[in-house]
Amino acid sequence: MEGGNGSQLFGKFQGFWCLGEYIPSIISFQTHFQALDEDIVIATMPKVGTTWLKALVFSIVNRHRYTLSDTPLNLSNPHDLVPYFELFLYANGQVPDLTSTIPSPRLFATHIPYPSLAESIKQSNTKIVYVTRNPLDAIVSFWYHVRAKPESSDWPLEECFEMFCGGEEWFGPFWNHVLGYWKQSLEKPNKVLFLRYEDLKKNPVSEIGKIADFTGFPFSDEEEGGGVVQGIADFCSFSNLKDLPINKTGILGWANTNTMPTNAFFRKGEVGDHLNHLSPSQIQRFTKILQDKLSESGLSL
Ligand code: A3P
Repeated sequence: MEGGNGSQLFGKFQGFWCLGEYIPSIISFQTHFQALDEDIVIATMPKVGTTWLKALVFSIVNRHRYTLSDTPLNLSNPHDLVPYFELFLYANGQVPDLTSTIPSPRLFATHIPYPSLAESIKQSNTKIVYVTRNPLDAIVSFWYHVRAKPESSDWPLEECFEMFCGGEEWFGPFWNHVLGYWKQSLEKPNKVLFLRYEDLKKNPVSEIGKIADFTGFPFSDEEEGGGVVQGIADFCSFSNLKDLPINKTGILGWANTNTMPTNAFFRKGEVGDHLNHLSPSQIQRFTKILQDKLSESGLSL
């Protein structure tokens, strides 16, 4: 671990940037997690639509267990239903008992880059659903998210922007994170599904169909004709999830010491909000950095 940032220990670990407090959790996860073939892992950089994807995957794979009126999503925030390995399950280096308590398929989430996932995830038939987003929108979203904490309410956007330009954001660099999962999705399309927030916004029904096929829970013709897919899209839409009481006033407990109001995960939910916050020269500068970093891959974000 190297580097530092303000009062919190923050540095590079296994090639990506993270808070020092997550390191025992990451090591415990890498050491102890035993993946099952039926497991589904949602992998993301922060602020790219993780909450939305958790709600979608939960709804798709559990649709025969719950209707949309009695789904646990009405009473629990998606982060409580699809827990993060490093922020919750293995927090502080603990080793949770995941053997008997969770119905199949077990749903998990992580911000950890692909190379640092537990080996059992890579070696098993566990499926990984990855979503990414225009990083400029993620920068703005991340800035708002951090500022939701009273002690960070005056964090300048310029500082946040510089952090992303240097690739020194949580679990970043952004480009490395995306490239890691993107390459796996090309090499092993049955292992990693690569999605984009912008596509989910544009055509949720077709993206939901892709997730259902990939995870092994395809929709039947009857379901498609009967509006089941559209029902999931509507239920998981920004406007519906945001207005559920649990997502308006709930509090999430990540690890022992960290709490976050659930409404911090539902801000604006739109594509292109960076245009309202970043200057043309900032946009141009970040775009150039990104193009350089992705130039050999053929990927564009
Ligand atoms: P904005 O800050 O741009 O509004 P994450 O879940 O990875 O933390 O990402 C949060 C971002 O996803 C926020 O973006 C949030 O508003 C948006 N979001 C949350 N739920 C959503 C939904 N159902 N549909 C679209 N966007 C959603």
